Amino acid sequence: MITLGIESSCDETSVAVIVDNELKANLISSQDFHKNFGGVIPELSSRAHLQIIVPLYKNALNLAGIEQSQIDVVGATAGPGLIGSLLVGLNFAKGLSFSMKKPFIPVNHLEGHIFSGFLMEEKPEFPYLCVVVSGGHSLLLSVKSFTEIRMLGTTVDDAAGEAFDKVAKLLGFGYPGGPLIQKAAENGDETKIDFPVAQCKNEFDFSFSGLKTSVLRYVQKNYGDPRSIPENERNDIAASFQRAVANALTSKAKKVLRRQRFKAMSVVGGVAANTYIRKSFEEIAAKENLKLVVPKLEFCGDNGAMIAFRAKTLYEAGRKFSLDYQAFPSMKKLNFDFMKK
Ligand SMILES: Nc1ncnc2c1ncn2[C@@H]1O[C@H](COP(=O)(O)OP(=O)(O)OP(=O)(O)O)[C@@H](O)[C@H]1O
Ligand SMILES: [Mg+2]
Repeated sequence: MITLGIESSCDETSVAVIVDNELKANLISSQDFHKNFGGVIPELSSRAHLQIIVPLYKNALNLAGIEQSQIDVVGATAGPGLIGSLLVGLNFAKGLSFSMKKPFIPVNHLEGHIFSGFLMEEKPEFPYLCVVVSGGHSLLLSVKSFTEIRMLGTTVDDAAGEAFDKVAKLLGFGYPGGPLIQKAAENGDETKIDFPVAQCKNEFDFSFSGLKTSVLRYVQKNYGDPRSIPENERNDIAASFQRAVANALTSKAKKVLRRQRFKAMSVVGGVAANTYIRKSFEEIAAKENLKLVVPKLEFCGDNGAMIAFRAKTLYEAGRKFSLDYQAFPSMKKLNFDFMKK
């Protein structure tokens, strides 16, 4: 069976091909020009997707060594994401599916991340605790099977990646902030500043807005203008902030692990690329004697492979979707419910 996966929810266009159980192509084109604006400009993003999607698709088929007529299932991200960007990939997939009379599977981008550990050789085992840490979301989930996911906690304000990006901007590092903070933190002292970890009403929820404000207050109080922070102290702030984010994530995960039994844990999404956060979760997994699956970097950020994989599992579970299925921009239309049996 050949499954196509198309991703275009934000600033990455990606096309992947899975032949039976083997990933044959996962081409990712990142829109680097957004860094000139300090963030993603939605209109420019959808135009860039439109320009690249056809050549990227042709290259992916070439790389996988297949013809278009061999595709059995067409999957594409339907949301959440930027509406204009989503429409490019989703409508491209609908067009392919309609012209080839092959099933069309709209994929929830977060479900793509949630199951991205299955793209690795060492796969998660059900039930597993999934920690989604991405640009727009921070979630704690109990993943019982490919058709049953329970949400345990979410973010009440900023997502982890958003906090990295905002703090990076505040410290003058540029965009996207995560990798730049990680790099600065390598030369900083993480114990220098004790930034607080917020407590939430639901004990498994996350809140990163307060942490961001604490960094802002610390900078204002000690330096006035962020531009006057000496480089070594900027690195200390980055390292201390990174430690606080990791603590927030791992402390909630540990709380869940005390209450529920899992066979594995998987940390996914763009922020899972962070080496400090990966290490923090490795320590918990070792202590708890729990299998840990953190995808390699290619599968942490947005990619078509995770969309193709999720489309394949939905198809194999017998899910059918109409070509009328609409793109959805936000979490409000999150479709976890369609998997609860
Ligand atoms: N090494 C890193 N350390 C920390 N954060 C990182 C690192 N690399 C990337 N990130 C962050 O990951 C985020 C992007 O992740 P991803 O592409 O999964 O998010 P998204 O697709 O925009 O959001 P979502 O998946 O929630 O819709 C950005 O906020 C970026 O700063
Ligand atoms: Mg994402």
